[in-house]
Amino acid sequence: MTALAEKTSTKRRLLLASDRGDQSSELAGILRSVSQVDTIPTSEIPDAPAHDLSGIVVDINLRSPESVQLFRNKLRAEAYREMPRLFVLADALHHGSMQAWALGATDTIARPFDAQGILQRIRAAFPDSEGFDETDRGKALNRGVEAAHAVMVKIFEKLPAGVPLHFNDIVAAETKILKAIKHSSLREWLTTVGCHHTATYRHCLFVTGFAVAFAQHLGMREDDQRRLARAALLHDVGKAFIPVAILDKPGELTEAEMAEMREHPRRGFEALARQGGFPPEMLDVVLHHHEFLDGSGYPDGLRGKEISDIVRLTTMVDIYAAMVEKRPYRLQFTHARAFSMMEEMGDKLDQHLLQAFRPVAFGYY
Ligand SMILES: [Fe+2]
Ligand SMILES: [Fe+2]
Repeated sequence: MTALAEKTSTKRRLLLASDRGDQSSELAGILRSVSQVDTIPTSEIPDAPAHDLSGIVVDINLRSPESVQLFRNKLRAEAYREMPRLFVLADALHHGSMQAWALGATDTIARPFDAQGILQRIRAAFPDSEGFDETDRGKALNRGVEAAHAVMVKIFEKLPAGVPLHFNDIVAAETKILKAIKHSSLREWLTTVGCHHTATYRHCLFVTGFAVAFAQHLGMREDDQRRLARAALLHDVGKAFIPVAILDKPGELTEAEMAEMREHPRRGFEALARQGGFPPEMLDVVLHHHEFLDGSGYPDGLRGKEISDIVRLTTMVDIYAAMVEKRPYRLQFTHARAFSMMEEMGDKLDQHLLQAFRPVAFGYY
């Protein structure tokens, strides 16, 4: 076999099932850069998939019961059951997402298309036989999530119960977290940690994912990636001392509850300072991650240069993560909406940093 033939045989092959005619050609063009693509109308999906098919991309009208029924009938064959399916939603508001999940979607993408974002999701949904071995990828992801989870348990369960938190407890998890995001993807990290039932854990693990992915995207030295991972893991340590009834309240907080919630930076700072052994920049992140550049944040109303780079970065990913997470009392914002809301925050945030973050914010989505 020639080198060229080998290369072709390991490339993905995708079926683009479409009832949108020409509208699917843009998507087919994007897909062609990472796979062979066979575009066919839903009615012509073969009864059995080709032996080398990696998966199906579905671009049908999810609001049409006829289209949905036809697709469902076509994919009845046993051979299609395990095949990954990426569904195209008509818009970023996720109209049709329920139908897509009901039809067995592995993942969804939305119009208008962002080529980079789509390719990243294609790679995650339809792995090819090149590159990092799948089982190792899965293992790296699981080890990273487990290590991060162990830190959460130490912070939110053991610390309030009086078990001291040591700086080394955090450091010990960093290598595994860095590897997990490097060898799998931010998207897979968020999908995995997004299943966590505890909202506070989920939040901190989201922040950690965004922080590490951003650091890796910027090509930071490993040492700096570690500093960001640890800042993200630790930033809300003070929430360990806020009643769970407030943290997990399934509704908006009252003014008194909000005031108590806003105590978490100071309480976290005091706990770590009392404990000792934490670097000053970590104490800075814990105390100041709710400060804004225009002086309108808390607890100290710091301004501009008083807020260090690592704090600015943690604040940015913290807000972004909070906006895209699912909350009990409201739907999560789409990535586009969350990002534009942060742009609208203007002088409060480091807007240069925010623009640098854009590919990470949109890239995994
Ligand atoms: Fe916080
Ligand atoms: Fe936070």
